Amino acid sequence: MEKLLDVENVSISFIQYTQGLNQRDLKVITDLTLDVFEGEILAILGSSGSGKSLLAHAIFGILPENANLNGTIKYKGKELSQKDKEEIRGKEIALIPQSVNFLDPLMKISDQAIGETKDDAEKKEKKQKQREIFEHYNLGPEVDDMYPFQLSGGMARRVLVSTALLSNPKLVVADEPTPGLDQKTVKETLNHFKHMKEDGVGVLLITHDIHAALEVADRIGIFYSGYVIEIAENKDFSGNGENLLHPYTKALYKALPANGFELTEGHQPLHGEIPKGCPYYDRCEMRMGICKEERPELTDLGNKKVRCFKYEGGLKNGT
Ligand SMILES: Nc1ncnc2c1ncn2[C@@H]1O[C@H](COP(=O)(O)OP(=O)(O)OP(=O)(O)O)[C@@H](O)[C@H]1O
Ligand code: SF4
Ligand SMILES: [Mg+2]
Repeated sequence: MEKLLDVENVSISFIQYTQGLNQRDLKVITDLTLDVFEGEILAILGSSGSGKSLLAHAIFGILPENANLNGTIKYKGKELSQKDKEEIRGKEIALIPQSVNFLDPLMKISDQAIGETKDDAEKKEKKQKQREIFEHYNLGPEVDDMYPFQLSGGMARRVLVSTALLSNPKLVVADEPTPGLDQKTVKETLNHFKHMKEDGVGVLLITHDIHAALEVADRIGIFYSGYVIEIAENKDFSGNGENLLHPYTKALYKALPANGFELTEGHQPLHGEIPKGCPYYDRCEMRMGICKEERPELTDLGNKKVRCFKYEGGLKNGT
């Protein structure tokens, strides 16, 4: 399977003005590395405000103007410039945005789903395809002539999902695609990701919903304080979590209702308050002297990756 997306050592920061005219660089994402292959669903799991939408917007070249982006984002092995991102978005790569505000309030739903077309034949073909996909999402013909304000929340989300699929994308980035949907529509949406995967599409599913991630993802990346701290396989989230590596991922898994809500003390340090060493230091039961002083790197262990000194010399070290 070909690798579609490569995000390497990406950081995103904002200039923040402190007292007077002093300014500082506020890092929201410090070191983000992940990859997505054809026919695979990679979920990135992170808490609210951890920078998940910024990651999606960085891939599509739609970050706010005051954001600084560093690191590399590659599609099929080629580093993407801002111009490349503008050219392939909505075509080879499609975004299912988190906010329904991405819909143009002044344009009819069908017109904005189809987008600009060169000639009548192309318009007819696109219209037919749009209808088929909309129908699949239970969006009847009456929706085509509606404006966004006339849609219910659930309908608007289904419009966003189906619009993203219209261009037959090879890579879909879904930013929190399920909140606000009823259980049945959540299941349908997740099933649709499974079908995309079977068709060879790569899906980056960005979510704070561990249940949604476990339901569909092949691999799950855990985002903590602006870092990817582990990329594990779905099957590792089973039993007592003994195959999970990072102490935070283990704690997260143990906190699932089915596993008895074993919560760890403390909170996730966010932007500006991240300590010098390992971001998990304050909460970690396995911490060592070095963890307070130095930042662990993301260590590649073949089909898993983990950011923890326990594993820097390989798996044996961590067990
Ligand atoms: N234009 C901006 N200027 C300054 N800071 C910003 C800007 N946009 C986002 N941020 C900061 O980046 C953080 C992460 O934002 P982001 O929307 O990516 O979070 P998220 O993980 O998607 O959250 P949620 O789960 O609520 O959707 C915000 O908490 C905010 O502090
Ligand atoms: S690097 Fe140290 S503090 Fe951080 S998770 Fe590993 S053992 Fe715990
Ligand atoms: Mg978000």
